[in-house]
Amino acid sequence: SVKRHYKFDIRLRNVTRLCHTKSMVTVNGKFPGPRIVVREGDRLEVKVVNHVPNNVTIHWHGVRQLRSGWADGPSYITQCPIQTGQSYVYNFTIVGQRGTLFWHAHFSWLRATLYGPLILLPRRNESYPFQKPYKEVPILFGEWWNADPEAVIAQALQTGGGPNVSDAYTINGLPGPLYNCSSNGTDTYRLKVKPGKTYLLRLINAALNDELFFSIANHTLVTVEADATYVKPFESEIIVIGPGQTSNVLLKTKPEYPNATFFMLARPYFTGIGTFDNSTVAGILEYKKPLNTVNTPPLKPTLPAINDTSYVANFSSKFLSLNSAKYPAKVPQKVDKSFFFTVGLGTSPCPKNQTCQGPNNSSKFAASMNNISFPLPSIALLQQHFFRHANYNNNGPNSYTTDFPALPLMPFNYTGTPPNNTRVSNGTKTVVIPFNTSVQVVLQDTSILGAESHPLHLHGFNFYVVGQGFGNFNPNTDPSNFNLVDPVERNTVGVPSGGWVAIRFLADNPGVWLMHCHFDVHLSWGLRMAWIVEDGKLPNQKLPPPPADLPKC
Ligand code: C2O
Repeated sequence: SVKRHYKFDIRLRNVTRLCHTKSMVTVNGKFPGPRIVVREGDRLEVKVVNHVPNNVTIHWHGVRQLRSGWADGPSYITQCPIQTGQSYVYNFTIVGQRGTLFWHAHFSWLRATLYGPLILLPRRNESYPFQKPYKEVPILFGEWWNADPEAVIAQALQTGGGPNVSDAYTINGLPGPLYNCSSNGTDTYRLKVKPGKTYLLRLINAALNDELFFSIANHTLVTVEADATYVKPFESEIIVIGPGQTSNVLLKTKPEYPNATFFMLARPYFTGIGTFDNSTVAGILEYKKPLNTVNTPPLKPTLPAINDTSYVANFSSKFLSLNSAKYPAKVPQKVDKSFFFTVGLGTSPCPKNQTCQGPNNSSKFAASMNNISFPLPSIALLQQHFFRHANYNNNGPNSYTTDFPALPLMPFNYTGTPPNNTRVSNGTKTVVIPFNTSVQVVLQDTSILGAESHPLHLHGFNFYVVGQGFGNFNPNTDPSNFNLVDPVERNTVGVPSGGWVAIRFLADNPGVWLMHCHFDVHLSWGLRMAWIVEDGKLPNQKLPPPPADLPKC
């Protein structure tokens, strides 16, 4: 296997957007960060050196990290943060995956500025199971804050209220012409194309807190891949993509020049409570010369209403595994352990002698699974777990428990009145499962503070999305409709607003694996838990010891 070396120098850099210059944390001075391109089977070594005052970790979002959990990256889950002046080498192999993923910081809200494409090409002699594209283009969606994003969330956690929303969405780091003060052409992403060609757009939603609709005027997109797994191709004018989701789509350019330029637009899908950034980012699809028409303004695509849940449900139902002879779906047919988790917001008490700006002006916002809001431990869980099990000197604090509840602690009814007890409790609680357990989890959105879609992300695994529906999950009737043949395989799925989704995965990867809402605001409010997958009996079923440079807390 080929070894590929990268170096990430974490540095401050002045960046200007919306006529506002700020000093921000970057990788190698770039925003968005550098592109990593590897092939299936390659070994990656990324040396991350921290030159900034902030703590930092980098997560390789969607990489399976088979027996390489020490390289996964979520702070206080698989590693302690890389402190100022320190470095850490992320060392892992790409096993059985090809497609588009991304890397991002996994500490506080640092990923607002620390993210970039992670492109997994097929092995050298392998081709795509779809038409070979003329060109491949990463399209990263992001959010821009004029303020420092870490200060934004710190202030929200202090006061208990909702954080300030972003000032713009971006395409490849650029807010585009629809915002004030971005008229200077360099603030707009332009995709220059030739007629009659097929382009592969590698879509990545790296926004912090928003699922997005995306469309290009007068062009149809063919989805061929989701979260680095091949899907049955399907056409649509409008894409829905949640934070943490990636998707490859084919764009066929017109054989002639009906127009010179077309807008590509993205704006949020949102059904929750409180404020959100409801602005629109535009990029431009531009046909190369000779142009027929020079002076027509770009055509604009029409996007669904901000809260169009039925469009989103319909769109997500189109995703199915390719399930070909070469890329078969390996859906677990039987279930060893079955779980039911509610997912949603809630409140926690306001400290005495403080006024809080959360719900009813007397509480703090919190978010939970099964009504447990998960505080991060002070030493990484994987370290704690590994050194206890391997019988090293057991001197770390036991700052987690293994009693994450299999069922919710509070009612969650959708079809009746929402429960009025909104309080959640705190606990760094995990579920321990033996190696090779076949797991099913039903994720049920709650109505405690209103229905909202949550992009749930699982580290260390892909899962199959075997079922979804609206209202309350019915354990007696719904499982009979599960798709156990060709369900889509992903690492991030939207738990539908006012509905549920059922996932299955095989726990064949020993380690500690975070599962959380990929809205950073919900993550910060505690919407996360961790699975501990025990070692198997065979040597190649065990997690090796940590690398010597693993950061200390
Ligand atoms: Cu991309 Cu834990 O996340």
